[in-house]
Amino acid sequence: MFEFSCVRVIFGCDTINRLPDEIRKSGGKRVAIVCGKAVKSTAERICNLINESDIACELWSEIKAEPEIDVVDSFLDSCRFDTVVGIGGGSTLDVAKLSAAVGNSGKKASDFLRKPLPGRNAGLILCPTTAGTGSEVTKLAVFRLGDRDVKHVFDDPSLYADVAIVDPKLTLSAPPAVTTSSGLDAICHAVEAYTSLLSNPLSDMLAEKAIEKGVRALREAYASGKNLEARIEMSYAALLAGIAFDKAGTSLGHALGYAHAFIHGSPHGKSVGMTQPYVLQYNAIANMEKHARIAALLGERVDSLAPRDAAFLAGIGFVKLLDDLDIPANLIDAGVGEDDVGEIVKRIFMSEKHISRNPRAVRKEEMYELVRKAIHGELYGLKNN
Ligand SMILES: [Fe+2]
Repeated sequence: MFEFSCVRVIFGCDTINRLPDEIRKSGGKRVAIVCGKAVKSTAERICNLINESDIACELWSEIKAEPEIDVVDSFLDSCRFDTVVGIGGGSTLDVAKLSAAVGNSGKKASDFLRKPLPGRNAGLILCPTTAGTGSEVTKLAVFRLGDRDVKHVFDDPSLYADVAIVDPKLTLSAPPAVTTSSGLDAICHAVEAYTSLLSNPLSDMLAEKAIEKGVRALREAYASGKNLEARIEMSYAALLAGIAFDKAGTSLGHALGYAHAFIHGSPHGKSVGMTQPYVLQYNAIANMEKHARIAALLGERVDSLAPRDAAFLAGIGFVKLLDDLDIPANLIDAGVGEDDVGEIVKRIFMSEKHISRNPRAVRKEEMYELVRKAIHGELYGLKNN
């Protein structure tokens, strides 16, 4: 048995121009756009488009990467709205989501930590400018609390958007480092949703297509950021991955990525991606059929192989992807050493929900081994080992 529903999505080039119509249809009369500095000029153009449609619109462009929760309060103190529009990467969209959810409650965002959200009474439209987080179609919003030490995940149906407008042209200006990190995040969402204990036939279908399209499109978009076809395919892959993991969740790959990112501070998608090969090989024996399928989708030849051999190739296929994107497939290159193993293992177990969905039981002793392998780049079947 499974249930399935999805945020309304408008996908395609230049669909951003439909924003004023969508606001009008939902009865919006006073709009606040939230964005970061990197997309400010794009957001200004869109804000003008809305104002020209006789809908009042103001712009707030103070978002920084992986924001603290107080940013929501700063936005709410600065703007009045009946509709919030988020234009940006995952961090921006998360601020838009939580702002719309708590905006008219008269309370601070932090008052709702570990408590139910009050229920949204403002409109919410999300327009991603990166192909990665899938935040536009999930009911999650992630914030730092105080410093890099602790992340809090709000998980509430009121965080679903009224509509997600996914215009791949908005991703054309993303620089290579943003393209690779957000793209890896999307592919990891798909891989982890596919192998999650909560996966279902529909989320599997979306995840498989996301991996197949994503691994090709990400290489092409990294090779040439102006390749519009690649940008379209990558936006599509990220969207499918977002819907898949909204249903099935992510697992050990994300728990491990969060755990070692604490040490080196690299962006989220890059962090989760660089240790995904080790998670794939750790999990391979839990579901050899699905891991063999991942290997095939990553471009490995698996037809004549025994199931176990094919399953372990998923990790090798992922290393080749990292190699093409010039991202290290070990933690030493990110400045992590043996002294950090204990801290990383401790932090893996702070992500309880991720661990609960992992296809293979997550045991402490085995995590010490997995983290050591990830530090030194020891992967089963890798030629230079
Ligand atoms: Fe992620």
